[in-house]
Parts: sequence; C-alpha cells; structure tokens
Amino acid sequence: MQPRCGVSVCHVLMLVLCLSAAEDFDWTKNNHGSFYYGTFPTFSWGAGGSAYQTEGAWDKDGKGLSIWDVFSHKKGKIQLNDTGDSSCESYYKIKDDISLMKEIRLNHYRFSISWPRIIPTGVKDHVNGKGIQYYDELINHLLENHITPIVTLYHWDLPQQVLQEKYGGWQNISMVNHFNDFANLCFEKYGDRVKHWITFNNPWSVAVEGYETGEHAPGLKLRGTGAYRAAHHIIKAHAKVWHTYDTQWRGKQKLVGISLSGDWGEPVDISNQKDIEAAERYVQFYLGWFATPIFHGDYPQVMKDFVRKSVQQGLGTSRLPAFSSQEKSYIKGTCDFLGIGHFTTRYITHRNDPTGRSSNSYFTDRDLAELVDPRWPDPGSEWLYSVPWGFRRLLNFVKTQYGNPMIYVTENGVSEKMMCTELCDEWRIQYYKDYINEMLKAIRDGVNVKGYTAWSLLDKFEWDEGYSERFGLYYVDFRNKNKPRYPKASVQFYKRIISSNGFPNQREVENWRRKAVEMCSSSNQLLAAEQRSTAANILRLIHPLTSHMEMVTEIVVPTVCTLSILISAVLLMFLLRRRN
Ligand SMILES: *[C@@H]1O[C@H](CO)[C@@H](O)[C@H](O)[C@H]1NC(C)=O
Ligand SMILES: *[C@@H]1O[C@H](CO)[C@@H](O)[C@H](O)[C@H]1NC(C)=O
Repeated sequence: MQPRCGVSVCHVLMLVLCLSAAEDFDWTKNNHGSFYYGTFPTFSWGAGGSAYQTEGAWDKDGKGLSIWDVFSHKKGKIQLNDTGDSSCESYYKIKDDISLMKEIRLNHYRFSISWPRIIPTGVKDHVNGKGIQYYDELINHLLENHITPIVTLYHWDLPQQVLQEKYGGWQNISMVNHFNDFANLCFEKYGDRVKHWITFNNPWSVAVEGYETGEHAPGLKLRGTGAYRAAHHIIKAHAKVWHTYDTQWRGKQKLVGISLSGDWGEPVDISNQKDIEAAERYVQFYLGWFATPIFHGDYPQVMKDFVRKSVQQGLGTSRLPAFSSQEKSYIKGTCDFLGIGHFTTRYITHRNDPTGRSSNSYFTDRDLAELVDPRWPDPGSEWLYSVPWGFRRLLNFVKTQYGNPMIYVTENGVSEKMMCTELCDEWRIQYYKDYINEMLKAIRDGVNVKGYTAWSLLDKFEWDEGYSERFGLYYVDFRNKNKPRYPKASVQFYKRIISSNGFPNQREVENWRRKAVEMCSSSNQLLAAEQRSTAANILRLIHPLTSHMEMVTEIVVPTVCTLSILISAVLLMFLLRRRN
C-alpha cells in the first residue's frame, strides 16, 4: 500500500504544480493600495544609458557608421535636426561618469556596446582595436569601483554600410548569424568580467518604430509586415546567442537575458469581457510578442488569431511568420533573466478598426483603442503618464504568465520638457518614489525582482526626440561643449533609497525629499550662472547689445513654458472630446 500512496501524493503534487503553472492573471483584481514602508530583499540598484545616446565620438578611433548616425544626419527625422554626434561625450568621460555613479553608490551600471565601434562594417572581417579598448577600460573602471556592469549587445545601432544598406537589416534572416558573430566576440573579449548580458534592448521598438512607422532608424515603413518580420529574426537571433553562450561560455553565475519593454494595459471597464480581452491583446502584442516565444516557444495565440485575419483578404498566409517545431524548442527557455523596461500605462477598450482591414498594420491588427486618464500626471514626453500601480500589475503578469522568472528592471524613469528645465525635479522624485514602491509591493506579491535600473543616469540623445526630452538623474548642459553634468534633486532622493535599501518610514522619506529639494536650489543657481555666461559669450560675439539680448532670453524662456502648457491643455481637451 505504501508505494501506491506515494504515487498518488506525487500525482496530487503534480496536479497542484500544473495548476499553479497555468494560473491565469486576474484582470479584474484591482488593488491600488496605499504607500508601503519597508525594505527590499538582497537587491541591486543601478542606472543606465546606451551607446548611441551617450557616447558621442560617432566617427572617432575607427568606428563605423551605424543606422542611427545615418538616420539622424537626414534632415527632418529628429527634433531640431539634432544628432548624437557628440551627445554627452561619454566616450571621453569614463572616469567622470563613474565618479557620479560612486557618489550615489550604484551597485550596477547598464550600458550598451556599439557594434560598429568594435566591428566597423558589421561583418567580422575587421575588428577595431580601439573600440575593444574603450569598453575594456569602461568595464575595468566600473569593477575597480565595485560597480557591476550589465551589458546590452544591441541597443539599436546596427552597422550601416553592409548590414543595413546591402542586406536590408533585420528584414534579412542572415542578421541572426552576423549578430551571433558580434555577440561571440563580446563574450570572448569581455565575458571574463561581465556576468550579466542583455541581447536586445526593447526589440518592440526596433521592429515597430524601425520597420513599421519609420520614426526610428532605419526609417522603413513596411506596414503590416515589416515589424513582424524584423521581430521574427530578432527572436531567432536572441535564441542563437543564448545557445552560443550556453554551450561555449557559461561558467558560474553568468547570465544572458533580454530586455523587453511593455506598457501596462488596463481594461477601461473591468466588468466588460470585451475590454478585458482587448487589454490582454494590448499586453500580448507588446510584451507577449517577444516573451511568449522565449518562455513558451511560440507567439501568443491571440496574436496568431488576430494577425491571421489577413488570410480572409486573400493574402494566403498570415503576415505573422511561423516558427517550425524545431525552432520552437530551440527558442523556448532561452532566458536566464528577463529585463523589463517600463514607463507608463494605458486604458484599453475594444474597438474594431473603422478603416476596416484594407490598411493592415501592427496597430490595427489589435482591434483596440488606447486611452489615458486626464488626471494622470504627464510631466515630460507626451506618451509618458505616471501610473505607478500599472507597474505592479505588469510585474505580476510576468510572474503568472512566464513561470515567475528572475527579473531585472532594466529601464524605469521619467522625462521633462526641454524648455521648463529645472534641477529641482520634484515630479521625478514623486515618480521614482511611487514606481519603486509599487515594485516593492510586487516583490511582496512574490514577483522575483532582483534589481532596478533608473533610466537614465544622464540626460542624453532621445532618438527622434533629440535633446528635447531629458530623462537624466544628472542634467547635462548640451550647449556647453564640455558637456558638464549637474545633479538634479531626484539623484539625491534616489541615493537615499539606495542607502536605505527601501523606504524606512514616512518621516524619513519626507525628510529626504525636503533635503533633496534644498540641495538642488544651489546647483540650480550654479547652472543658471554658467548658462548666463555661456549665452552672454555667444551673444557678445554676434551682437554688441548683449544686455538687451539677455533680457530677451529671460522673457522668452517662460513664454515658451507657458505656451507648451497651453498647447498641452488644448490637446487634453481634444483627447477628452474624442473619448466622449
Ligand atoms: C530641419 O531640416 C529641414 C530640412 O532641411 C528644414 O526644413 C527644417 O527647418 C530644419 N529644422 C530645424 C529646426 O532646423
Ligand atoms: C541577406 O544577406 C545575405 C548575406 O548575409 C545576402 O547575401 C543577401 O543578398 C541578403 N538578402 C537580401 C534580400 O538583401
């Protein structure tokens, strides 16, 4: 009797395990609680940036052209026709930037390796020694200062000349092998010191903005097909690199993951099944598009169902490419940790595309409408509303959908509008405080979050938005050719969170905020003085009536602020009317 009993216990256990593995995320459970005071378990605090956004030195020391060099040099693609040519000049400021990280006692720094800096053409015929050396120095200095490097291999800067121009970039399946060669070189050169690798940063953006809308490099508008095809190749490339690492380089505590971005989608009406399904589609078409193949081997069923609709239009095959069964098992499980980039949330409602399906696109495939609550704060980028509770829900979704993987938050932060520049960024303090708190609640829910990366360390080149949006904990004066950095109030606040490893109690946290704001006003004066003298010097060169001109600039800045507030108000009204 004993063995049989054992078997049945085993069965019950298995059943329980199966049930919990198949546990569904509950879309109707809504728990926006109050602020939670407490500390984190063993945790890694960091900040990040990426090569094209910060390095500058776009044509120095043998670097090849990337698709972003070429794209940003075309007029009309980037706000004010700005480029990343010099950006923060981080290429020359390794020591300065690391001292900023030390100042706030970061545990890790996330950066990316520019592929064309170390392999100028992209195909491994020639390796650029000076490029190799730059990242060697960066990694060594980080380690000397006890800061763990978390390294992204692909943060959007594909080599231009051969890979994009001749081969068509991510539309071409051969990128899988070229990317694997590049990744293998990085493992060989840096893997003795780098233990955390991220294959791709936000492939959603690469696919949709690079190949569907064309807002990002390479600027292609292959509506309805380009994004799906690019994503298909990116997923295969990720899997191949993970296998290369797994078979050739893995020692102990060495991890390869991917960094996926995803907004949270909340049903407008949680009692309406159609809205719940639409919200799920929103998240599945965003995060799930990449996470589901990597964790379960294939695209989300809902994507296969909704993209396949084109079959009825006589296209014959789905615009969503399919994985063979061999590919599915090769791709499944290729993730030692999941990087999550998260900034904002949308309300989602079901909507059939009014234009019908004559114009296929990634966006119309989803049959939904995105809405925002006008009460949500939106201090910076027009898409970025502060909705902290959405973060907790997304993290819980990841836990239930993908078997509670190890998570590093690889990007989270908020921008500000260019003209209203202020070092006393209380709204950013509020954003970080609330989002980090929701992450703490998620960890208490059982989500396996191991680290957090504030996005970003410095103000930097924000892709098609140029320098018009600032995400930094440190302000960078881009008009000054030395690109000096100034601490914002938020960096003081973040430093306190790091040193306390959480939020000890209300009084203390309130104290941090007050002190941070006090400290920043002196930095503010310093910055203002610097900027006045820079502006005065420039004006003196071009105009003798300097004092008159200075007055004008002082009037212009507040006017631009007022104007942008007015425009936002009008846009908001417009949005509200559309919503009704
Ligand atoms: C950017 O370049 C385009 C094309 O040359 C030009 O029309 C536009 O005015 C420029 N924008 C700015 C802000 O300089
Ligand atoms: C894809 O890349 C390969 C080289 O890796 C090249 O031979 C081929 O022509 C490319 N295909 C297209 C359509 O550009």
